[in-house]
Amino acid sequence: MDQNKTKTKILFVCLGNICRSPSAEGIMKKIVKREGLESSFHIDSAGILNYHQGELPDSRMRSHAARRGYDLNSRSRPIQYDDFFEFDMIIGMDDNNIMDLKRLSPDTTALPKISRMTDYSLRLKQHNHVPDPYYSGAEGFELVLDILEDACEGLLERCKEMRAAEFP
Ligand code: 4NP
Repeated sequence: MDQNKTKTKILFVCLGNICRSPSAEGIMKKIVKREGLESSFHIDSAGILNYHQGELPDSRMRSHAARRGYDLNSRSRPIQYDDFFEFDMIIGMDDNNIMDLKRLSPDTTALPKISRMTDYSLRLKQHNHVPDPYYSGAEGFELVLDILEDACEGLLERCKEMRAAEFP
């Protein structure tokens, strides 16, 4: 069987692809590695905007993440047409991301792939989005990491269920 077809392909999306979505990418990659499931997943992130294209994640985000053991080293890129076909799950961080993703979706077949990060929260259910930390202080970056760590654990559980149904 084509190994690539057995992978669950997840794209995390935020506005700039320098704070929230690269953090979700780094956290999810670490969780998947912990579970020994690296070969079953393809994980990436992208932004709605291209303002920061080619840049590493925001230095504040990188230093907060590093303190929790995440090395964020992806480069910002805007979401592109092919992503809507390539990925199985396209996960936005807030209402605006979801609205933009629906608007950018090339056709209706991609719409069911779009979901919201906090749909997968296990413990921190009081947050219905991942707040943009760009203009916040340290607490904003810590909150992003708290929400993402919790929601990525929930996302892994959801993926395991989906994979068990798809590849029994
Ligand atoms: P992110 O945060 O969407 O979590 O990467 C932002 C980064 C940059 C900007 C906005 C949000 N910006 O306007 O440049």
